Amino acid sequence: MIRAHVLLSESIHASADDAFERANISVHRSSAGLGPDELITALNALPGEGPVMIGVRSKTKIRKQIFEAVPRLVAVGAFCIGTDQIDLDVANEDGVAVFNAPFSNTRSVAELVIAEVVALSRQLFARSWAAHEGNWRKDAKGAHEVRGKTLGIIGYGHIGSQLSVLAEAMGLRVIYHDIVNKLPLGNASAAESLDALLAEADFVTLHVPNTPETRGMFGAEQIAKMKRGAYLVNASRGTVVDIEALRDAIQSKHVAGAAIDVFPAEPKAAGDRFTSPLQGLREVILTPHIGGSTQEAQANIGREVSEALAGYMTTGRTTACITLPNIDAPALRPGGCRLVNIHRDVPGVLSAANQVVSQVGLNITGQRLETGGGVGLLLMDVDLPRDDPRAEELRRGLQALDHSLRTRLLG
Ligand code: NAI
Repeated sequence: MIRAHVLLSESIHASADDAFERANISVHRSSAGLGPDELITALNALPGEGPVMIGVRSKTKIRKQIFEAVPRLVAVGAFCIGTDQIDLDVANEDGVAVFNAPFSNTRSVAELVIAEVVALSRQLFARSWAAHEGNWRKDAKGAHEVRGKTLGIIGYGHIGSQLSVLAEAMGLRVIYHDIVNKLPLGNASAAESLDALLAEADFVTLHVPNTPETRGMFGAEQIAKMKRGAYLVNASRGTVVDIEALRDAIQSKHVAGAAIDVFPAEPKAAGDRFTSPLQGLREVILTPHIGGSTQEAQANIGREVSEALAGYMTTGRTTACITLPNIDAPALRPGGCRLVNIHRDVPGVLSAANQVVSQVGLNITGQRLETGGGVGLLLMDVDLPRDDPRAEELRRGLQALDHSLRTRLLG
């Protein structure tokens, strides 16, 4: 029996299919990113009357009008890291689960940064550029090993800490700065402050998220505090570094070089024209936001998000869900069924739900409630096969409660 339908847009990796197949979720694919009207038509055209889900990457926008026009939409999978393309507040208010893949491409970014640190230290791109032009620059001037140098990591999260481990294996000394107190891995140590890190690091690399605090956090003032001759790497967000200030510092030789993967304004599509004040500087490695773009990362994302969506459909599990309280629900008991009720977080919901169950004369075999962000998620297991009419009666009873948003029956 088909449990649900999922529409996957934007050429999501085929690795997503396995988890859906195992969960009896029927996959429908559309290779192009769809506009809002096309999306609504496609979702409403999915067979049956049961729940539907959508999987998107960064281009497909899931805004309020989609949630309003497709009441069967119970979950959205962002097959990427960012979730800016999804209106998370509306999803939360509507009780729609949104999942993403926060660390599928962590390793890919960390590996790229390691490569860039070595490439900058050996002037690899400048010398390759010269060789292409017929210029034989065979000398050791300005070329260094990375062993024994200091790497300063700003933002010691998933990527920053992974990079820390790889960098130490190469013989770098690692210091980091984070606004949160983080466990140092290996021999890494927290710098006393951002300024202290900048004063010591031979390579400064940014791995912070896009927040109001990080926007423009690395400007002329911070660049001036870097050691003369140090290098800057940014593969986090384009809004973090003041690119003009960086260009000036490279031209004045205060900064020896940089590797920049993300930009304040990036072209919308592959093949679109790209311009940057850093173009033409041979000390700068420019890459088109490819930090996380590897086959391995795409495959990981496909698996990670489809498993989260399939888990939500089969057990109500919301581990790492962005819009609903997180419950790490176990598998259902054989012969039993589970009610998944999402409701507004107001007092008295649990006792009202329990009353519905006792009115139907059933025994609750397991119950979990988590609340947060204005909504509550209630999972209730009862000793009743899913196809027993009382199970559906129970579902309707829970859904009819004043503050219910959605109620599904699993089994
Ligand atoms: P994360 O959330 O695991 O780590 C971010 C860390 O930065 C956290 O430890 C946080 O406490 C810290 N932080 C926040 N504000 C800070 C501040 N003002 N100063 C110092 N530390 C601060 O994120 P993750 O997964 O490590 O990603 C880091 C960045 O990399 C994100 O901006 C993400 O968008 C970007 N990214 C870029 C990719 C690319 O293709 N270039 C691919 C994947 C991620």
